[in-house]
Parts: sequence; structure tokens; C-alpha cells
Amino acid sequence: MTYDEMIAAWRDDPEQFWAAQAEAIDWNTPYKSVVDLERPAGRWFAGGTLNTCYNAVDRHADGGRGDQPALVFESAMTGREESYSYNQLRDNVAVLAGALVRAGVGTGDRVLIYMPMIPEAVFAMLACARIGAVHSVVFGGFAGPEVATRIDDAEPTAILSASCGLEPGRIVHYKPMLDEALQIASHQPPIRVVLQRDAAPCELTDADTDWGDFIDGAAPVDCVPVRAEDPLYLLYTSGTTGAPKGVVRDNGGHAVALTFSMAAIYGIDAGDVFWAASDIGWVVGHSYIVYGPLLAGATTFMFEGKPVGTPDAGVFWRLIDKHRINVMFTAPTAIRAIRREDGAGEHVANASLGHFKTLFLAGERCDPETLQWAERMLKVPVIDHWWQTETGWAIAGNMAGAGLFPVRAGSAGKPMPGWAVEILDNEGEAVAAGDSGAIACRLPLGPGATAGLWNADQRFIETYLTRYPGYYQTGDAGHIDADGYLHVMSRTDDVINVAGHRLSTGALEEVIAMHPDVAECAVTGVNDALKGQVPFGFVCLRSGADADPTTVVADCIQQVRSAIGPVAAFRSAIVVQRLPKTRSGKILRSTLAKIVNAEPYTVPATIDDPAILNEIAEVVATLRSQSS
Ligand code: COA
Ligand code: AMP
Repeated sequence: MTYDEMIAAWRDDPEQFWAAQAEAIDWNTPYKSVVDLERPAGRWFAGGTLNTCYNAVDRHADGGRGDQPALVFESAMTGREESYSYNQLRDNVAVLAGALVRAGVGTGDRVLIYMPMIPEAVFAMLACARIGAVHSVVFGGFAGPEVATRIDDAEPTAILSASCGLEPGRIVHYKPMLDEALQIASHQPPIRVVLQRDAAPCELTDADTDWGDFIDGAAPVDCVPVRAEDPLYLLYTSGTTGAPKGVVRDNGGHAVALTFSMAAIYGIDAGDVFWAASDIGWVVGHSYIVYGPLLAGATTFMFEGKPVGTPDAGVFWRLIDKHRINVMFTAPTAIRAIRREDGAGEHVANASLGHFKTLFLAGERCDPETLQWAERMLKVPVIDHWWQTETGWAIAGNMAGAGLFPVRAGSAGKPMPGWAVEILDNEGEAVAAGDSGAIACRLPLGPGATAGLWNADQRFIETYLTRYPGYYQTGDAGHIDADGYLHVMSRTDDVINVAGHRLSTGALEEVIAMHPDVAECAVTGVNDALKGQVPFGFVCLRSGADADPTTVVADCIQQVRSAIGPVAAFRSAIVVQRLPKTRSGKILRSTLAKIVNAEPYTVPATIDDPAILNEIAEVVATLRSQSS
């Protein structure tokens, strides 16, 4: 089936379309309805029971793929290299699941996973899925207070962690950050397990259990069937405010959608090798390091390291060559980083990429130059596709499994089956082809899309379903061109994308505002040649404060690093006299964003108080001339 035929089949009869895809999943009990439209965003495969771990691991182990590699791991940080067949993956997961059950973790309990990119983190996710526990993975670049917020919201029964993560030139000590989180959090999980890594073992207290002791003697357990709509995991993501949103992913819709996506979008069959160069702490890691490739019976490759500097800008291509990777998925930032170091593509030329079929990019807008550079160097199709933590898989993209339609650089391809994408104006009316507006998806959402926010039903409705009744508001803006390609240009809210990492400027502002000398502040995204965007702060000091502005800025930067984490990449801010505001007192963030991004900047005539803006523009210009 071509893309057009597939879309037509879905449009003609969406339920029949998804029922056909659901046949790829092993159900313990057949579902009663494909989609239940009574629920705001739709509920998929109600009445059915299944186990996601069974579908991702056991059925392949039992079905003739027991000796095939399921998970291949390589760390550029430690030199550790491992391969786990489907049989071995099942053994590891079943024992860890048994240890969790022995310790008292049951179906529906939450388990927080705060771990680096090592196979044990994958075992942990699958072990939770196996027993129907709900995992919540926290990205290692977040600091203690962010972990605390997630502990208090998810109220986990257990925390699985490791002594450290490894960043180039730096050991990330997880245990002190976890201890800090537990000191801040009101909820105190009774089970705390720590995996000791040789690079930096940590001290354990009486409340902690060593990973080895935890699994020692545990009996392997079988997969527990759960309802299709039961949560498989929670994944916190940034919104407009500092309080992260716990995106809830179900079991049934997720398994069906990801299995479909592996074949149709990525063109991956059982036995193929897939590499998502992301982190298990992000949705890309959940969907395409762990669940998608395994549901498809493929081999997933997991890498601890960076695209550059571990050891050089050729590491991705050498790994593709060495592990016979068929399809890779990464963020445009990674390609920009490689291009910056190896623009002539000498490293690519040294690798043998005969098995490599397609490169997929997502996580942030991909500039056409980066995409075209990658096409020229790799000589394979490079596909930009667009999705979100909330959706779990691509809303728009291309279909390697259905014969790719022509790539249009600058666009994120065309909508995928399941996603009725429209561009709406301020009144909620659909705009003409080529006109810009808010990108919205007509309800119900495709299978696998979030079933809601943890402990926040009302926030879910207000954030996504209220602004445009009958639609899901994506928070992105853009246009659909005359040929049906979707161009995702920017966010409509206070979310920025830094190196493919989604951050809330509101969360950064909350932290900066805690500084005793700061009266108010605003954070906006500045375009960055490598990371797409980086945060930039405007800080007003309290009247009467005689603090040194440079010291306050340095303090604020350190404060963000300690409270949110290094991943915020907050390195620049200026002290200004006043912030530009509307008459009702709202800070004109979009104007600030224009000041830091436009070249040269001219003050818009519509603003009441051009003096403030002129002043800010001057400071920014001076700062820029100093840094260039
Ligand atoms: N644990 C702890 N710290 C982490 C971390 C993790 N898992 N990931 C990043 N950090 C830290 C970095 O060490 C850095 O710290 P520093 O301020 O001490 O240098 C900081 O967070 C900012 O990280 P980042 O923005 O990623 O910049 P970088 O200079 O370390 O790396 C790239 C630049 C391009 C190599 C990197 O951003 C990259 O690989 N990007 C790909 C993005 C990606 O995979 N996105 C996932 C969605 S698909
Ligand atoms: P996350 O939830 O972390 O995956 O971030 C989702 C957000 O990243 C989207 O809402 C977009 O703003 C941005 N994004 C992801 N993929 C793309 C893409 N291909 N093009 C443009 N923006 C993207």
C-alpha cells in the first residue's frame, strides 16, 4: 500500500484500519471496541487485555527469535559492549520483575527510574511492564528538585537508580541528587534500589538496596495481563508553567500504534536493526529505543555517548557500520554538531554504510541545510518527522514502509494515519493552504496518544482540548502547503526546544525569581546555530537592591543548574531596568524573543513604551558585539 492508499483506507474506515493493525498484537482477551468516543480524546481497545512486555519480548523469544539479538549496547564512555538475545532479555527482565514483586511492587504501582543509558534501565522499564507496574523514567540531566516534583506527583512505590551517569569529562553523581530529591519530597518510596557503576560507586544507606542484592535469588515471574487502557508509563514533560505534566501512556493503543509505526513509517521488519540515538528519559527513547523495535521483533541498538567528542564526529557512522544498523533516528542538533566538526564528511566516507537505509530526524525543527547536508553525506533518504511526548509517535512524517513520497526539506512530511491535522486561525476556523495558524488535530487522537495527565484531568482538558472544541491543540504553529506537506515552525506557548530537549521558560523563570535580589524576570529562546534554541534571561533587580548585576546573573545561572539541571543549558541573561508589558501587566515575551533574535532589531511602532525596548535592544546588541 502506498501512503495515499493507506491514508484513504484510514479515512474511509478508521476503526477497520486500526482493527487490522491490532491483529499484529497478541491479546489475552479480545477488545470490545476499537475506539470509545465517550472519552474526550478517545480510548482505544477497551475491554481487551494484553501485556506489553509479552508482546515486546516473550512472544519473540518463544516464536523463533530466542537467539536473535534483541538489545545491543555499546558505551563510548566505559567501553562496555553487550548483546542480549530475546531469550537473555526475557531472563533478565523476568528476574528483575520477580524481585520487584518480592519487594512488594504490584500492578498499578508506580516505579520511578532515574538511570543512565545502560541495559539495566531497559530491563527496569520492561520489568515494570511485565507486572503491570507503571514506570516513570526521569532524564539524568535533571537535578534533585525536578526529581522531587516527579516523586510527589507519581508517588512511586519504588525507585530504581544508579550511582552515576557519564557525560564527556564529567561524572554525574545520581545518588546525591536522588538523596536531595528525597529530602525535598513529601512522598517517601519504601523501595530504593541502586546499581553501582564502576566509574563512581556511591555510599548506600540502610534505606537503599544494592541492585545485585535486590535481584539475588529472585524467581522469574510471568507477564501479567492488564487492560488495554491501563497505564504503561508516565512521562513528565514541560508545559507553560513550572509544574511538569505527567503524560499517561496506555498499553493497548500504544502497542498497536508503535508496531504499526515500525513497519509503515520506519520500514523496519523483524530481524532488522534500529537505532534511536536519544535517551530513555525522553519519549523518543521510550518509543524507539525500547518499545517500538522490540514490539516489531527487531534489534534495538542502545548507545551511551555523544555524537561528537566520544571520541570524534565519526562515532555515529562507525556504529552504523559496525552494528549493521538499517535505520537511525536522532535529533537535528546531533547532525548539526557532527556537521560543525566534519563538514566535508570525511568520517562518513570512511564508514561502510551498505546496510543503512534511512535517517529519521525529530525533536525540534530541522533547518533545510542540515537535512540536505545529511542527504548529501549519507546518500540515503533523510526524513524529518514531527511528534510530541503527548502523541507517543509521529503525527506527521513519511512512510519508508509504504514507499517514501518525495521529501520536501523544511517540512515535516505529511500527516500519518490516525491524525486529522488542520491549521486553525484565532477563531478556530481552518485556514487556506499555505496560511499559518495553530496546528490542531481533530478528535479522537490516534491510538498511543496520551490518555490524559496523571492526577490532572482538568489540566489535560484545559491545556489541550478547550481552546479549539473538537480538536487537540498541539501547541505548535505552522502551515500546510498546497501539496499537503506540514511545516512546523514554532511553539504557541512558553515551551522552547534546546538541543531537542523540551523546556518550559516558565519553569526557568520560577527558579530565577527565587533569587532574593530579583524583582521579576522573563526567559525567552534565542536561536542557536547548534542547539536550535537556548534560553536567554531578562532580569530586573529589586528596587533598592545594590547587588552587582554580574553576580546576580551568575547566581541565577547556577540556581537554574541546581534546581532544574544542566540540561536547561541556561548560560546567558542580562539585567534590565524594566520589562516591557501590556497594559494589563503581561510581560511581552514574544517582543523580547524578537529583540534577541532579529538582526537588526527595530522597535515596533505599536508598543506603548519604546524606551524600554530600545534600552533592552541596546544591551542585547552590546552583548552580541562583545561575544562575536
Ligand atoms: N545526564 C546528565 N547531564 C546531561 C545529560 C544526562 N543524560 N544530558 C545532557 N547533560 C548535560 C550536559 O553534560 C551539559 O552539561 P554542561 O553544562 O556541564 O556541559 C548540559 O546538560 C547541556 O547538554 P546539551 O544541551 O545536550 O549540550 P552538550 O554540549 O552536552 O551536547 C550535543 C551537545 C549536540 C552533543 C547534544 O545536545 C546531543 O547529543 N543532542 C542530541 C539531542 C537528543 O538526543 N535529543 C533527544 C530527542 S530526539
Ligand atoms: P517533545 O515532547 O519533547 O518530543 O517535544 C515536542 C515538541 O518538539 C513539538 O511540540 C515541537 O515543538 C518540537 N518538535 C518535535 N519534532 C519536530 C519537528 N520535526 N519539527 C518541528 N518541531 C518539532
